[in-house]
Amino acid sequence: MKYLNHLLLKYFLHNLPPELAHSITLKLINKGLVFNNSLNNYKNLNVKLGNINFQHPIGLAAGFDKDGEVFHQIDKLGLSHTEIGTITPKLQTGNSKPRVFRLSKDNAIINRLGFPSKGLEYVKKRLENFNSNVPLGINIGCNKETTNQINDYIKLTKSLGTFADWITINISSPNTPGLRNIQTSALLPKLLNNINNERKIIEDHKGKSLQIWLKISPDLNDTELKNIIDTSLEYNIDAICISNTTIDRSLKLKSMHKNENGGLSGTPLNSQSTKILAKAYLHAKNNIRFIGIGGITNADDAYMKMLAGASILQLYTGLVFNGPNLIKEIVEELNIKNKKINITSIIGSKAHEISKGYYPNE
Ligand SMILES: Cc1cc2nc3c(=O)[nH]c(=O)nc-3n(C[C@H](O)[C@H](O)[C@H](O)COP(=O)(O)O)c2cc1C
Repeated sequence: MKYLNHLLLKYFLHNLPPELAHSITLKLINKGLVFNNSLNNYKNLNVKLGNINFQHPIGLAAGFDKDGEVFHQIDKLGLSHTEIGTITPKLQTGNSKPRVFRLSKDNAIINRLGFPSKGLEYVKKRLENFNSNVPLGINIGCNKETTNQINDYIKLTKSLGTFADWITINISSPNTPGLRNIQTSALLPKLLNNINNERKIIEDHKGKSLQIWLKISPDLNDTELKNIIDTSLEYNIDAICISNTTIDRSLKLKSMHKNENGGLSGTPLNSQSTKILAKAYLHAKNNIRFIGIGGITNADDAYMKMLAGASILQLYTGLVFNGPNLIKEIVEELNIKNKKINITSIIGSKAHEISKGYYPNE
């Protein structure tokens, strides 16, 4: 039996603590012992973002492959792209355990990992030794104990930028004290300006373009959101990833771990992140691209994020509860929905309705 039965695998993994289950999953993917969904090319699902071609919109969100252990095997899961990280310059262990909680009754996870990272040098070696068969993003963050947050981001861009199709600046994790404040402080223009300069140096040196994406929180108010988009436009950011996890607990959760501190992901995050995505799309007036993330567990969720304004999509928690077959299911259903037109023609077409909290039946 080359590939493991995913129902049995889920039963086994969900009886283990989440972090142990995750490290076993990474080992299985690394060895190729996962369902081979392989990447099918459905012409109508092709999406182009600048110079990057995505075979379909669905990719892996950051946090799953923090240290670049499996990026070279991701095409075998049928995903169109992957984002490794968050990587910090120095090795750090993150917060004390337990720090990841499955909320099975809610199809959700709460995590307060706090950027455990094997650090820049470890990941750099992996990137030197393995090639990705799909577009690759590198998600970067600062060390908890850093004295200069901006320098951390620059250092990572400088060392890892040449390996990436895009760098994602993560300033939205709720688990590193002070990190989210960068989104709304004077540090943001300074950070984006510095990274933009670093990108130019890499591009001149490499002769190939490097995109810069910015990952934001779903907990921003409308003014904060608009300011971030305006600043991103000013500094030539290519795409905004909406969103990271939420600290909002106004949602009615049923699971035992519902009151744990940390960032909530999965189904309860879905409508909140889709609504803020639609608002961002309308404000940006087609001048910047959006990556839709948060609670995607089926093709309807994926489609709705594209109607709200996302060009491509990423997921994490859906995979934990539904296994790798979810990818194939979503992609095949999106293909059926889009037999006649290219999927890019629907992007943002229902942003007005969704920004007001109305989710249309497409
Ligand atoms: C256990 C866990 C760890 C995560 N770590 C990161 C991270 O290191 N960097 C990051 O940008 N996002 C991280 N995320 C957030 C995801 O990338 C994603 O934005 C969020 O979970 C919403 O998508 P989902 O509902 O499909 O999981 C993490 C999420 C989870 C569940």
